[in-house]
Amino acid sequence: MEYKFAAKQNYGDLSSGKVIYGKSGNTNFPVRLGNEIFLRAVSYLKDTSNLSVYNPCCGSGYLLTTLGFLNGNIIKEIIGSDIDLDSIEIARKNINLLTSDGLNKRLNELIQLYDSYDKESHKEAILSVKKLISERKFGEIKFNIFERNILAIEPEPLLTADIIITDIPYGNMKTWENGDGGVEDLIKNLRKNASNNTVLAIIAGNHIKIKSPNIRILEKNKIGKRCFYIFKYID
Ligand SMILES: C[S@@+](CC[C@H](N)C(=O)[O-])C[C@H]1O[C@@H](n2cnc3c(N)ncnc32)[C@H](O)[C@@H]1O
Repeated sequence: MEYKFAAKQNYGDLSSGKVIYGKSGNTNFPVRLGNEIFLRAVSYLKDTSNLSVYNPCCGSGYLLTTLGFLNGNIIKEIIGSDIDLDSIEIARKNINLLTSDGLNKRLNELIQLYDSYDKESHKEAILSVKKLISERKFGEIKFNIFERNILAIEPEPLLTADIIITDIPYGNMKTWENGDGGVEDLIKNLRKNASNNTVLAIIAGNHIKIKSPNIRILEKNKIGKRCFYIFKYID
């Protein structure tokens, strides 16, 4: 796959566990690839400003947080849900890093850690957070992070997203919890969170076939062990 939109650059300031909090056992999506998929999804929208972006399997919010840092100028709302409460707690902390208050608090936290342990990794994280603070050029983004089993019909949150982007569980990167319908149920249950213009990007293992009467495919790309699909809903 050739990259069309996401620049080849150093994304090191956004590495997991540096400024953005990591959670052991959680998968972290490659930053450039995540941004490429997001920007391809955006390219199918008519109106590309004030976007509301939803990840219904957000884990610790790494993908959403990196997308926020890279595209804060076009995003007005970030929505994330997951079945795992520990991950949701970290996702809230991570998404809060998109605010200048959150970044400054993280800077103070890292300075205290460096003063206590004198570790090179904390020193590097301090440099990264300072860069993120000085380069932050976007306004306020609304956040909504909550618990949801996306394979269950209820409860159905009242929200509509312009872009739904999700890295579903596959292979050794976590498995579906509390449901056996898998990705088809996810697509069905997200219908009420989509308008007719919503673009849905799903990243899965390349052994997973996605078929659903509710969607039409806009593109499918293979990259390494992963595959990503971009869809629109059919009425
Ligand atoms: C591949 S990980 C996503 C990682 C995320 N993109 C990130 O950057 O941190 C898949 C996520 O799906 C969640 N999950 C598994 N079963 C679920 C379900 N039934 N409903 C909602 N989330 C579920 C897992 O808890 C896990 O966080």
